[in-house]
Amino acid sequence: MSGAVARVADLLHRQAAGGVVRVQGWLKTARHGKGVSFFEVSDGSCMAGIQVVAEPALANYETEVLALRTGCAIEAEGELVESPAAGQRFEIRAASVTLIGPAGDDYPLQKKRHSFEFLRTLGHLRMRTNTLGAVMRVRHAASRAIRRFFDERGFLELHTPILSTSDCEGAGSMFRATHFDPASAPRTPDGATDWSRDFFGRPAFLTVSGQLEAEIGALALSRVYSFGPTFRAENSNTSRHLAEFWMVEPEVAFLDLDGDAALAEEFLRAVLRELLERCGDDLRFFDEHIEHGVVAALEHVVTTPFERMTYTDAVAQLERSGRAFEFPVAWGADLQSEHERWLTEEHVKRPVIVTNYPREVKAFYMYLDEDERTVRAMDVLVPRVGELIGGSQREHRRDLLERRMRESGLDPAAYWWYLDLRRHGSVPHAGFGLGLERLLLFATGMANIRDVIPFPRTPGSADF
Ligand code: 4AD
Ligand code: MG
Repeated sequence: MSGAVARVADLLHRQAAGGVVRVQGWLKTARHGKGVSFFEVSDGSCMAGIQVVAEPALANYETEVLALRTGCAIEAEGELVESPAAGQRFEIRAASVTLIGPAGDDYPLQKKRHSFEFLRTLGHLRMRTNTLGAVMRVRHAASRAIRRFFDERGFLELHTPILSTSDCEGAGSMFRATHFDPASAPRTPDGATDWSRDFFGRPAFLTVSGQLEAEIGALALSRVYSFGPTFRAENSNTSRHLAEFWMVEPEVAFLDLDGDAALAEEFLRAVLRELLERCGDDLRFFDEHIEHGVVAALEHVVTTPFERMTYTDAVAQLERSGRAFEFPVAWGADLQSEHERWLTEEHVKRPVIVTNYPREVKAFYMYLDEDERTVRAMDVLVPRVGELIGGSQREHRRDLLERRMRESGLDPAAYWWYLDLRRHGSVPHAGFGLGLERLLLFATGMANIRDVIPFPRTPGSADF
């Protein structure tokens, strides 16, 4: 049942049970006409508000009701009746309207459309708008669908640490976590900061990924997933990158790259199907006001098998495309987002899973293919967004893993436990990471990743 319908049904039910109905919420609009006032009240539980009609017979009409304006919090009681006017089926004929919290006359969220840039400066209020309210409800539904998908397939949710001493992606873009006062941090004899005297006795950071610990879980519990915030100090001010984002990372023992790709496809399809089923009102809103065709795109993904191609094939197709890309296409270079978008949007016109990337462009932990040129990596690319998922089969052969670590400039001693896992009951295993906000960009049609997370953190910006 969609939110609005559920709410009216609930109100009718309470009324049938002999009670008056009561609503509490914030005024989206307030119109005072001749001898009657109309309020659109929303409590954020669904897209539709409910209209409350108040007449001068109310004891506080002159003193209080007439002064109500957009942004006020109120409570209204009365009778639910069929609405004579267009725009809503039901309205509440108020027996009482009580002001709970007034709003200043400078309340910034008036009925007109505000730019998303402007709304970002109002992080404390923007969830009261139709768009951000819908985003938050879809975000909730997506988190729930993700957990349900894994739960139904026997995955355990593993709570991997946020404070970390390893750099999973080996990209060196980590936020340091320290309890030192920068002005008086202890020094070594040669003047460098003495991290051995920091809180953990060594350098520590905010995690970029729960994967390495998820692998520990998978090699004991077979199927696990971690789901939580991850942090990257990349200075990339794009509409697709956040410094703090939520990632879900399943990890499965006895699984190879093919199985991993199949899991990712089944997972995306199931989550999007659940959003279509549960978020009808909100998705229709996005379709009408944000991105025309977003619902059809979701339906298409849910019903169409994903394309699969190797990186080598993808490069060949890109070279044959006749396109003048800003970044040249060449075997050995990572795919840029313009290449990814051409592949999925224009070439195959559906999600595509690109596999077996050159070892040089991927992280140290990926399984080395027989030719030693490529690794068993996969990226899931979708129209409009590009990379939605990154995953791989993991290197479970100890000697090769150690070699790859050294090549990537990592100290094997610091990752002794990760190597040791390959000495005791090591098995092929695989997993992936999905960025929740990238999924929401795709599902809602929103253009900027800052508008699909409640409190965005980006270079130069960590308000609220
Ligand atoms: O491709 P990535 O870097 O893969 C990993 O972190 C692996 N350890 C995952 C795994 O195999 N368990 O990141 C995974 C996904 C990306 O595909 C993207 O959706 C998202 O995380 N992502 C970001 N989302 C928002 N802002 C950023 N800065 C992101 N970086 C990655
Ligand atoms: Mg990636």
